[in-house]
Amino acid sequence: MRKIIGLALFVIFSSQVQAGDAAKGKEKSLICGSCHGADGNSAIPANPSLAGQAESYLVKQLKDFKSKARDNAIMSAQVANLTEQDMQDLAAFYASQKVQHMAVASKYIATAQKLYRGGDSDRDIAACIACHGANGEGMPAAGFPAIGGQQPAYTMATLKAFRSGARNNDMNGIMRDIVAKMSDEQIEALSYYLAGLH
Ligand code: HEC
Ligand code: HEC
Repeated sequence: MRKIIGLALFVIFSSQVQAGDAAKGKEKSLICGSCHGADGNSAIPANPSLAGQAESYLVKQLKDFKSKARDNAIMSAQVANLTEQDMQDLAAFYASQKVQHMAVASKYIATAQKLYRGGDSDRDIAACIACHGANGEGMPAAGFPAIGGQQPAYTMATLKAFRSGARNNDMNGIMRDIVAKMSDEQIEALSYYLAGLH
């Protein structure tokens, strides 16, 4: 009897996913680094930087790629063989790294800063700052990702994907509703501005 209880407890505990381990995540990130940079700072405009991103947001995206709730052929292939523990470890590693910020061309600052901090009442666009924070650091507990220091080409592509509905894994359509009201010029200005926001 005692043996059976012991075995049952062993099965219960060993099947639980442990909190992410950044050191193990680093070991598992070799392939990821070829596209996202060894420390999660991407040198390739189309690929997002992951450094300093909230752990919970990263895990959510990896799970969404796996279930195809976020439909992307490249990333679905990358996550196909990851376990939930792998995802936790990888997310812990990238969250522990520091994102590098880029210089922002001055022509984008006025338009983007106004939108970021105050929204656009004519178009009924909510201020980004309310959810993504004063410095683009996000609010991890609420599921709002960090967006400062991101590759501008990626930000632009993902905002346009929310607008077209190609990316639709945002809870309650939060981002889709906002981006639906934005012009191409506003998306472009914000994308370059965010790359330097910190
Ligand atoms: C061949 C290049 C490539 C490889 C290898 C790769 N990725 Fe990606 N990754 C991408 C691209 C491109 C995107 C953007 C997808 C999109 O636009 O939806 C992305 C997106 C992501 C995102 C979403 C980021 C965000 O801000 O929402 C995460 C998280 C991620 N990758 C993690 C990983 C991990 C972990 C690995 C290794 C297991 C990995 N990637 C391997 C190219 C790659
Ligand atoms: C009410 C809260 C809220 C507001 C306001 C908001 N966002 Fe978001 N944003 C979110 C959430 C939630 C997500 C994550 C969706 C998911 O889980 O995939 C997100 C995701 C994003 C992403 C994708 C990040 C990545 O790494 O792929 C970008 C870029 C972004 N928001 C930019 C903006 C901009 C620019 C504004 C202002 C015009 C804005 N957001 C306003 C809640 C908000």
